Amino acid sequence: MSDRGDSTGTVAVVTEAVGLVKHYPISESISSRLTRRPKRKVHALNGVDLKVHSGETVGVIGESGSGKSTLGRLLLRLEVPTEGQVHFEGIDLASLKGEDLRRLRRNMGMVFQNPYSAVNRRRSVLAVVREPLEVHDIGTKSEQNLLALKALDLAGLSRSVAQRRSSELSGGQLQRVAIARAVVTKPRLIVADEPTASLDISVRAQVINLFADLRAELGLALVFISHDLGTVSYLADRSIVLYLGRVMETGRTAVIEREPLHPYTKALIASIPIPDPHQRRQAPDRGEIPSAVTPPPGCSYHPRCPLARPRCRTETPPLEEKRPSRWAACWEVPVMAAHEGGVLVGDPHASPPAGRSR
Ligand SMILES: Nc1ncnc2c1ncn2[C@@H]1O[C@H](COP(=O)(O)OP(=O)(O)OP(=O)(O)O)[C@@H](O)[C@H]1O
Ligand SMILES: [Mg+2]
Repeated sequence: MSDRGDSTGTVAVVTEAVGLVKHYPISESISSRLTRRPKRKVHALNGVDLKVHSGETVGVIGESGSGKSTLGRLLLRLEVPTEGQVHFEGIDLASLKGEDLRRLRRNMGMVFQNPYSAVNRRRSVLAVVREPLEVHDIGTKSEQNLLALKALDLAGLSRSVAQRRSSELSGGQLQRVAIARAVVTKPRLIVADEPTASLDISVRAQVINLFADLRAELGLALVFISHDLGTVSYLADRSIVLYLGRVMETGRTAVIEREPLHPYTKALIASIPIPDPHQRRQAPDRGEIPSAVTPPPGCSYHPRCPLARPRCRTETPPLEEKRPSRWAACWEVPVMAAHEGGVLVGDPHASPPAGRSR
């Protein structure tokens, strides 16, 4: 694992989001515009903080509509936040425009859920992987070809695949091409948005292993988005659990998985399907996720929460350190530290310890 840390030995922060808010305006009909009602908006993200260090993987978990992809796009400045900032290696992305932003972007890559729509399948594999080098004007043509072949190697594809058309490949191979393309410029940050969700179960583990290898090889900061903790538990050092655009819980992934604190995380873990059809987990679902246009007041999870009390309906709980190195936003989870002999760390995004503790 590469460690581009400073002289104090702390691991460098690659990307940092501070108070990220993203509201999408809703286009209103003429009649509602005439009634001059306040403009409605989708509250996709409502104040999210995140830090990802060099060589670290952070999982972003949550149900559909919780704001995972929005967060990923904001981290890469594919969209502009309504409020808050994103810093890449200390640079506020809002301070960059045009050519400067384009130049910085070569240090970032994104892998999407569906490789069929992310990859131009009429082009050869080599051309697809080479394209970011052409866009960023990196190297001569022959250097670009060499770098693209190297990236294919890294992605576990044999060189014989390079001249084939992308349309001839399987979904798993195509996702490897998309990954090769994302790493060809040697980015320091990759956002992978449910990269295994559209793949056959048989190839999902291979793609997860590929991300683990790439992280080790390239020292990447990796943000790995998924519906469920199970998918990220092998990869992600830390995870954040999102619900209606807020962080409900964060901490080390293995610890969250073993002993979730927040009632939402508990429900999420309990809803992971078990492959054996004779053995069903009890469905924790207490109704649908509410609309992000009119999110519930107080704790946004309260309408579905088995622990909800009157306070939860009116006051939004802060993300608090409930146990050493474990944060949750829930009035009903007590803070326990001193009497357990633990020490509160204070920063939910603290630099990971040397080596990967799981
Ligand atoms: N461009 C957009 N315009 C309007 N609303 C949007 C836009 N993008 C996302 N949203 C809304 O923002 C909320 C969060 O969406 P987002 O796609 O980030 O969720 P997600 O967690 O990635 O969901 P999924 O698991 O389905 O991919 C949703 O209510 C969604 O409908
Ligand atoms: Mg999404």
